[in-house]
Amino acid sequence: MHSQINFGYGWVWSYGHLALGVVAGAVLWLGWARGWGKTWLLLVGAVTLWALSAGVIVRFVFDLNGRTTLPTEHFLASGAGKVLDMGAGTGRSTLMVLEARPRAMVVALDSFSDEYVRHFGNEKRDQPVAGEGRERLLHNLKAAGVEQRASIQPGDMRQMPFEAATFDAIVSAYAIDHLNRAGIRQSLGEAFRVLKPGGQFLLMVVAKDRWLTFTFGPMLMHMRKAGSGFWQDGLRAAGFEVVEDGTRPATVFILARKP
Ligand SMILES: C[S@@+](CC[C@H](N)C(=O)[O-])C[C@H]1O[C@@H](n2cnc3c(N)ncnc32)[C@H](O)[C@@H]1O
Repeated sequence: MHSQINFGYGWVWSYGHLALGVVAGAVLWLGWARGWGKTWLLLVGAVTLWALSAGVIVRFVFDLNGRTTLPTEHFLASGAGKVLDMGAGTGRSTLMVLEARPRAMVVALDSFSDEYVRHFGNEKRDQPVAGEGRERLLHNLKAAGVEQRASIQPGDMRQMPFEAATFDAIVSAYAIDHLNRAGIRQSLGEAFRVLKPGGQFLLMVVAKDRWLTFTFGPMLMHMRKAGSGFWQDGLRAAGFEVVEDGTRPATVFILARKP
């Protein structure tokens, strides 16, 4: 069942460093065989070592194309309710909730716009992105056997097509941090609006921590100065109470509650 799931993050995210490590290792071997000077050998050796160790971290610690688990057991501890996934993409965060909370229903919202294509590509160029995006997400939900508890809703998280107080809980993973500051403010306000009083909001964003700095350095620039404090301030400004915060490699998570 697991083998059929395809979260669609390009191979370069999972294997790019390892490929670079293999190439650098080959150059190192060539240089050694040809008697290059110590400085060059040390330099290429350092690149090889970095690329291979970063590759192992990206593939096995970040594991973007593998399933992920809830970062906190306190999210939807009742196990049931109607949950919104803001920026569901190919369904990794949707599955995270559906598999941890077998009595929950999830509405997977995504804009299926340029940002979607930037992450997941647009394999079927003859089809609108929204059609292909819905198909890929549904494929993953079916592969996990959870499609009966999920629905897919195209839409923009900055102006969501839902009535006020529709959801018992909201999750958003690695999606809001792709927006500009105005977009972030709008999305957090919208999350507050569509959540029922007492409902929880689990926000997960990319964190520029040691793991990310070591593996990607300056390549990943999402909100590069925004730490947990930025997100907590934004949540409070939207009306939420922050009840828990924590980290995972390359991730900050915050559990908030609508009073
Ligand atoms: C990095 S992906 C994360 C997908 C998924 N949550 C996960 O954990 O794998 C970010 C997703 O956010 C979506 N997104 C970006 N801006 C959006 C917006 N304004 N409204 C709805 N979805 C948006 C993109 O289309 C993309 O699918």
